[in-house]
Amino acid sequence: MPEFLTDVHALRAKARRDITDGPVTDAYGADLPRVIEMLNTALATEVVCTLRYRQHHFMAKGMNSEPVAQEFLEHSNEEQQHADLLAARIVQLGGTPELDPNGLVGRAHSEYIPSRDLTQMIEENLVAERIAITSYTEMIGWIGSGDPTTRRVLEQILAREEEHADDMLTFLEADH
Ligand SMILES: [Fe+2]
Ligand SMILES: [Fe+2]
Repeated sequence: MPEFLTDVHALRAKARRDITDGPVTDAYGADLPRVIEMLNTALATEVVCTLRYRQHHFMAKGMNSEPVAQEFLEHSNEEQQHADLLAARIVQLGGTPELDPNGLVGRAHSEYIPSRDLTQMIEENLVAERIAITSYTEMIGWIGSGDPTTRRVLEQILAREEEHADDMLTFLEADH
C-alpha cells in the first residue's frame, strides 16, 4: 500500500523547525509571496467596493430609491467583511495587509465611480461585481490545490459577489 503521509518522526521534526512561520509549513503548496500580493489586490478591490457602495447608499435619491439605498448599505457592509477576511488571511500567512489609502485605487481591480443617478449607480455596481467575479474566479483557478484555506476564503467571497451581481441585475430589470 502506498504511503501518503510523511513518516511520523520526520513530520514531528519538521513541525518543530521554523515554528515562527506559524501555520505556514513545508506542506504549503503555493507561491507564498504571490499569494500575499494577490490577497492584497483583492483587499484593495474590496475596500474600493465598500466605499463606492457606501457613497451610493447616501446619495441614492428619488422615487423607489429606498430599497435600493438599503441594499447598497448591506452590500457595503458585506464588502467590508470580505476585506476583513482577506486581511486576516494575509496576517496568518505572515504578510501585511496594505490599507494605506495612497495607492489603494491603483491596486484595486474595481473602480470608484460616484454617481447621482440611481440607474447609473446600479449599473456601476453590477460592473464592479462582474469584475470581482472574474478576478476571484481567476485567483481560485491559479491557486488550485496549493493553499486550500485561502482557496476556501476566495470561494466564499466569490459566491457572495455572484449574489451581489444578481441583486443589482434584479433592480435593473425592475426599472423597466
Ligand atoms: Fe466583496
Ligand atoms: Fe460584491
